[in-house]
Amino acid sequence: MELFIDTADITEIKRLNSLGIIDGVTTNPSLVLKAGKNFKEVVRDICQIVDGPVSAEVVATDYDGMIREGQELVKIHKNVVVKVPMTPDGIRAIKYFSSHGIKTNCTLVFSANQALLCAKAGATYVSPFIGRLDDIGQTGMDLIDEIRTVYDNYDFQTQILAASIRHPDHVKQCAISGADVATCPPAIIDQLFKHALTDSGLQKFLDDWKKIPEELRRIV
Ligand code: G3P
Repeated sequence: MELFIDTADITEIKRLNSLGIIDGVTTNPSLVLKAGKNFKEVVRDICQIVDGPVSAEVVATDYDGMIREGQELVKIHKNVVVKVPMTPDGIRAIKYFSSHGIKTNCTLVFSANQALLCAKAGATYVSPFIGRLDDIGQTGMDLIDEIRTVYDNYDFQTQILAASIRHPDHVKQCAISGADVATCPPAIIDQLFKHALTDSGLQKFLDDWKKIPEELRRIV
């Protein structure tokens, strides 16, 4: 499973990308607002940090506007993926982009039927928002399983990019369910490393190592 970072915070992207486990980045207008910088400059900076797909979202809601904005966004960098909302105009735009070799990420997806339309339009990625479904008392992970089944039934090539990730268990469940990508806020990625037994076990190793006479334990 690929791991994307879901933020427009350059500092956090640099920090986590240095670990060598980030495969791409997703942004959206709310994340760009939090970044507080020029949108196209942020996208360009991200593309120069992470060598992978970088989703940048159109804000037009009409077909012609989406096409104009998407064509501008892909000029920023070869790795830009045009993020488009799940609407009739959005699906029409995705069909256009996919027929012109432009990668797309269909966002704000909350049902298997919406995901089916994304695949039929040739979307590169579909972004089901699992956390927002959990937030209203549904089970977001069920949507991942449903989309996985639909896509496998018909060999659709659209990749499932699980989004709106709320905790590390979402990441585990997405990997078990066969999502192609999970896009996570920086704090969730940090939590993936954590386990109390790892911390206590490492401390015990270090404590025991120090009990060895120095002349017997020198490594370098
Ligand atoms: O990429 C979509 C993601 O940022 C949405 O997450 O927490 O706003 O539901 P959230």
